[in-house]
Amino acid sequence: MRTETIVILSQREIEKMRKAGRLAAQLLQHLEPMVKPGVSTQELNDEAERWTQAHGAKSAPLGYKGFPKSICTSVNEVICHGIPNVKQILRDGDIINIDVTPIVDGYHGDTSKTFLVGNPAPKTKKLVEVTEECLLRGIAEVKPGARIGDIGAAIQEYAEAQGFSVVRDFVGHGISNVFHTAPDIPHYGTRGKGKKLRAGMVFTIEPMINEGTWEVEVLSDKWTAVTRDRKLSAQFEHTIAVTEDGVEILTAL
Ligand code: MF3
Ligand code: CO
Ligand code: CO
Repeated sequence: MRTETIVILSQREIEKMRKAGRLAAQLLQHLEPMVKPGVSTQELNDEAERWTQAHGAKSAPLGYKGFPKSICTSVNEVICHGIPNVKQILRDGDIINIDVTPIVDGYHGDTSKTFLVGNPAPKTKKLVEVTEECLLRGIAEVKPGARIGDIGAAIQEYAEAQGFSVVRDFVGHGISNVFHTAPDIPHYGTRGKGKKLRAGMVFTIEPMINEGTWEVEVLSDKWTAVTRDRKLSAQFEHTIAVTEDGVEILTAL
């Protein structure tokens, strides 16, 4: 549980979050055409780092708590925090989540998508589609006066109704000039529970949805989180701001 106070951002700070968020979305869009059978996750990392620097930004993951690379690349049974590697080559039928977080003028834009590599099996595509819909349903709950639990409840209800499970061990987070801060945003929960949302709060929603068990195992590299049953996992993430009349997606194009 994060215990920091939840910050309400000023309009000036939200404008900086918009700039960072837009660059993050553009970076994912820039990488998308590279996602093809035969590319290595290291090549995706290197292009992300080059493009980020060329746009005058920094990669938040690089060196964050010792993370060794500029982006996270989470393939198939990897839930999150996959480490790019020259030896990891994408194959037809894989899925890969690419999670990017450029820092622009001190502020963070955090977004991720799961991409299809070539032509995955229908049930794999369904997992990815359901996960994206989970993110959208979570975002749709956001407005002043709603509760943090409403977000998780909407995601969990839909994911489980579709036969999938929701990861508990990783949650969305407050974000601004720091990468991860209060509040925690669980992707499961109960309507009407949790803190009330207020205009000016900025946080991520980033559901990780699994084909099988929601249980996680972290590999010996201390980062790579995989499903305990090695079945597939997908994730989508946006950084959002609570506005006076609802929600603004900061990492949309
Ligand atoms: N971008 C991830 C998130 O959504 C965090 C990655 S931390 C890292 O919160 F160190 F693995 F990069
Ligand atoms: Co992220
Ligand atoms: Co995040």
